[in-house]
Amino acid sequence: MKGIILAGGAGSRLYPLTQVASKQLQPVYDKPMVYYPLTVLIASGIREFCLISTPHDLPRFRQLLGDGSAWGLHIEYREQPRPEGIAQAFLIAADFIGQDPVTLILGDNIFFGGDAFPRAFAEFQSGATIFAYHVTDPERYGVVEFDAEGKAVSLEEKPAQPRSNYAVPGVYLYDNEVVAIARAMKPSPRGELEITDVNKEYLRRGTLRVQRLSRGTAWLDAGTSSSLHEASAYVQTIEKRQGMKLGCPEEAALYRGFLTLEKFESLVSGLPKCEYRDYLADVATEVRRVGIKSA
Ligand code: G1P
Repeated sequence: MKGIILAGGAGSRLYPLTQVASKQLQPVYDKPMVYYPLTVLIASGIREFCLISTPHDLPRFRQLLGDGSAWGLHIEYREQPRPEGIAQAFLIAADFIGQDPVTLILGDNIFFGGDAFPRAFAEFQSGATIFAYHVTDPERYGVVEFDAEGKAVSLEEKPAQPRSNYAVPGVYLYDNEVVAIARAMKPSPRGELEITDVNKEYLRRGTLRVQRLSRGTAWLDAGTSSSLHEASAYVQTIEKRQGMKLGCPEEAALYRGFLTLEKFESLVSGLPKCEYRDYLADVATEVRRVGIKSA
């Protein structure tokens, strides 16, 4: 399965922070925001990526992530000149997707805990798999309604009167049909190709799977100054307590076998002296001692 990271948008809610660096490059505690969704996909076994951003911000992402080879990945880049919707990503990246299934993750979605994603990726065969997460403010998101048997019956984008508290987070798995579905779509009243319309089409076809994320999973929003600060505080709290980092792509690549321990160690030795390097060095020592534990 191929992976798309969508890191577009003006980030106007974070102005003036986003005057010089896009939202998904802002620090969430000790790393750029985009590290977190990238790590979620690596930990789920994705190795080939296409990162989509604005023409203005794309060079920064290239500078940060390169072609991915240092981490045992392959990363390509594509431009989304205007914010014309999440589903436009499947048109922009159609040649990258080719005949494969594809997952899309939003560059500002931060998750922690549980094994729902690696499991869903391992089980995925066809159709679409999306997720549902209980929130207090569903009107800000795509909202999914379930019937008494727990089957998804409706999907709405930012409804004024949500039919449930279940929001759809920004991680989506699709078979290759998604490209044709996106091609046939018309922009919504806000001028965007809506991801919710893609999901509605899969629902209509009877091939949409909606998996509820348990309360043990954290899904954080980092789109406003206050939620960005809260996300940083959350990451700091967990990292300090556990002595393990969240959103560390090098570590996830090592655990997934995308990097050998030797390559990982040589990568670490090339980093500047800093806390991040010390952490990765400790990971290497531990792996030498006891082998790979579960991520
Ligand atoms: C987008 C999607 C929405 C989804 C949300 C998750 O919203 O349109 O369905 O629930 O991402 O972060 P937007 O980023 O446009 O507010």
